[in-house]
Amino acid sequence: MKFFVDSADVPAIAELNDLGMVDGVTTNPSLILKSGRDILEVTKEICSIVSGPVSAEVVALTAPEMIAEGRKLAALAPNIAVKVPLTWDGLKACKVLSGEGFMVNVTLCFSVNQALIAAKAGATFISPFVGRLDDINLDGLDLIGDIRTVYDNYDYKTQILAASIRTANHVKDCALIGADVITAPPGVIKSLASHVLTDKGLEQFLKDWAKTGQKIL
Ligand code: G3P
Repeated sequence: MKFFVDSADVPAIAELNDLGMVDGVTTNPSLILKSGRDILEVTKEICSIVSGPVSAEVVALTAPEMIAEGRKLAALAPNIAVKVPLTWDGLKACKVLSGEGFMVNVTLCFSVNQALIAAKAGATFISPFVGRLDDINLDGLDLIGDIRTVYDNYDYKTQILAASIRTANHVKDCALIGADVITAPPGVIKSLASHVLTDKGLEQFLKDWAKTGQKIL
């Protein structure tokens, strides 16, 4: 399973990238706001650090404007994936931009039918939002599983990019289900390394080591 970082925080992305943990990056207008940076500048900088797909989202609502914005974002770097919303105009833009050879990430997906129609429109990635479905007492992970089944039934090549990943358990469950990619904030990715028994075990080892009076260096 690929790990994308859901962030426009350059130092945080760079730290994970140096550890080889970044297969790509996703951004959205809210993350650009949080970064306090200019979208074109920060996206270009991220693309210079990360070699995998970097999603940059259009903000227009009509297909022709989305296509124009998408082309401008795609011109920033060869690894840009243009992110379009799962609306009828977004699907039109997806068809045109993917036809021009650009990677397209169709975002704000909340149903299997939306995922199916995005695959038909040539999406490179479909982004179902796990956490936001959980927020309204639906099951985001069920959606990932259902999309996996449908895409496998018909051999769709669109990659399932599980988004709105909030917890380490979301990551584990997406891996068990067979999502192609998860995108998560840096904090969630870092939390995958934590276990209370690791901390407890290390504490005991260090106590016992101190009693030996030895040194390695
Ligand atoms: O990139 C979109 C996304 O992952 C949103 O996450 O936590 O704002 O629902 P969240």
